[in-house]
Amino acid sequence: MFARSAVRAVAQPSSRLFSSSAARNFKVAVLGAGGGIGQPLSLLLKQDPLVTSLSLYDIRGAPGVAADVGHVDTASEVNGYAADQLDQALEGVKVVVIPAGVPRKPGMTRDDLFNTNASIVRDLAAAVAKSAPEAHILVISNPVNSTVPIVANTLEKADVFDPRRLFGVTTLDVVRATRFLAGVTDAKPSDTPVTVVGGHSGPTIVPILSQANGGKSVTGEKLDALVHRIQFGGDEVVKAKDGAGSATLSMAYAGAKFTNSLLRGLNGEKGVITPTFVKSPLYADQGVDFFASNVELGVDGVEKIHPIGELTAEEQKLLEAAIPELKKNIEKGKNFV
Ligand code: NAD
Ligand code: LMR
Repeated sequence: MFARSAVRAVAQPSSRLFSSSAARNFKVAVLGAGGGIGQPLSLLLKQDPLVTSLSLYDIRGAPGVAADVGHVDTASEVNGYAADQLDQALEGVKVVVIPAGVPRKPGMTRDDLFNTNASIVRDLAAAVAKSAPEAHILVISNPVNSTVPIVANTLEKADVFDPRRLFGVTTLDVVRATRFLAGVTDAKPSDTPVTVVGGHSGPTIVPILSQANGGKSVTGEKLDALVHRIQFGGDEVVKAKDGAGSATLSMAYAGAKFTNSLLRGLNGEKGVITPTFVKSPLYADQGVDFFASNVELGVDGVEKIHPIGELTAEEQKLLEAAIPELKKNIEKGKNFV
């Protein structure tokens, strides 16, 4: 139907975001599909060749989003589910992505969202425990440092918790760090991937710039400014949106990118490694039992949690500042359930 060059022009953007080999059947659900993240995320997942079926659920608007996204000419099928159809939305689902919940307004911290989002995430996790107990759960809803432990404890209570299948999505920090480092070093972002460890809020976001290409060339005040921009990139968007919410489009991109990495691992591809916030032994002796670091993804989800490697003195300081804050956030989540 298309001339060869036209096909290539259309295919390029998605092939940069997604890669795949021979695919198994992967049904993916988005809970919160009607929202600022949920809608573009659903659209991007519709373009992922590894997604064979999309289940879109929200307390409002998901059937409309599904009808719209469902017209995109890729092979996957799309179904939308209304507020009272959560169990049906989760039937046979392999991966559940959760962007449901309220976003920040200027002046708020992510922790200020806890009171509203904690119960939303807990209730959705309980539904997954009941209807899709073997699904992999990707948590986007903030505060991620607390919502992930909430999901873990909810699944544990239902006796279906497998730490290999629970992920806090911290990919936006990686995307920002990569983009911002490329900006200050005048490089291509594809040449400057950055590992970001810790958690997902202000001082708990710890970019390991010294391990990235060109990262060591940034020093002094320039380094401080770069680290600050990575740690507080979310605030930049909240401020610019001026009361209309937080990052949605870059988050949808990051969410689709992480989902694709997980699906590639589940599909048997080897060597898929990316940072994500998981139940982790790395700092458990300091009371931090969830931590983001490079994780190898495989057919069962988390295959290997990589240590964070050598740090500079500055990075060591950032990590030391992150640990107590992270511990507090995790305990708050655990105590909620
Ligand atoms: P939004 O308000 O635009 O959308 C949220 C959606 O969730 C709405 O459509 C709403 O109807 C739905 N929802 C609410 N309760 C629900 C429930 N019980 N079941 C299903 N759906 C429900 O918000 P947004 O901008 O899409 O942000 C969503 C969340 O993602 C926020 O908590 C935000 O802080 C977080 N976020 C996280 C990251 C990250 O890096 N992890 C990045 C950006 C935003
Ligand atoms: C982000 O990093 O953009 C998100 O966590 C949303 C926010 O509240 O900043």
